[in-house]
Amino acid sequence: MGRPFVYMNMAMTVDGKITSTHREYANFTSDLDRRTMDRLRAEADAILIGAGTLRSDDPPLHVRDPEMRRHRRSLGKPDHLLRIVVTAGGALDTSSSFFGSAGTVPPLVVTVENLDANRVEQLQARAEVVQFGTDFVDLERMMAFLDDRGVKRLLVEGGGEMNWELLRLGLVDEIYVTMAPVLLGGREAPTLLEGAGWPMDRRCNLRLLELHREGDEIYCRYRVQRS
Ligand SMILES: NC(=O)c1ccc[n+]([C@@H]2O[C@H](COP(=O)([O-])OP(=O)(O)OC[C@H]3O[C@@H](n4cnc5c(N)ncnc54)[C@H](OP(=O)(O)O)[C@@H]3O)[C@@H](O)[C@H]2O)c1
Repeated sequence: MGRPFVYMNMAMTVDGKITSTHREYANFTSDLDRRTMDRLRAEADAILIGAGTLRSDDPPLHVRDPEMRRHRRSLGKPDHLLRIVVTAGGALDTSSSFFGSAGTVPPLVVTVENLDANRVEQLQARAEVVQFGTDFVDLERMMAFLDDRGVKRLLVEGGGEMNWELLRLGLVDEIYVTMAPVLLGGREAPTLLEGAGWPMDRRCNLRLLELHREGDEIYCRYRVQRS
């Protein structure tokens, strides 16, 4: 089964948190980090988030910087990315901005085959809905579907549970991390990777491809190593 090139972009604190215990919008990085995020978006065909991130942040998922929009056009990509959310329960607020229009591209909700039919219908009024798997979305089938749809570069923007699901299945190629000079603490504050975790002898190793410092921030790009 083919799949897109999958790259993840996350900002974290020195203690590995991606937001606070109160799950506020993560605005602890600099303008440069936002420009980096924009560049990574400009180079993607689609952008994917977990439903938790949609519920707590409803983040704008477009390329904001005009220069980066030009960069995107120079790559031959349409103005808007395909926006994707993954959910099993389907508890999404269809009045959120995620479901608003982005050019002519409706968002894509990826969910399970046993989601309540009425709920599917409500979501279909605002989005394209595809269903793979029963209790959880079969993410490998989702990737094959996206590949067939022409999504060759897929950007994942969290959160921690979604990242874990993709990484544990070996579906991520590269990880971009911005480490901000901030501490948040809090045992309930989500980290870059949630889920069940790996035992030490099955840990996921990374190769550092790029590292640079800008002010007090550290920018890293890793390749995920497969065993
Ligand atoms: N600092 C950063 O760069 C950054 C980036 C993004 C997000 N965040 C933060 O991360 C927090 C959210 O993270 P989170 O870990 O709570 O949530 P999340 O990873 O965004 O979403 C988890 C949800 O995604 C759905 N999901 C994931 N894998 C699935 C699968 N295989 N099948 C079906 N559904 C699946 C489920 O939705 P349902 O419950 O609907 O079934 C699950 O509850 C937010 O507070 C946000 O601020 C930070």
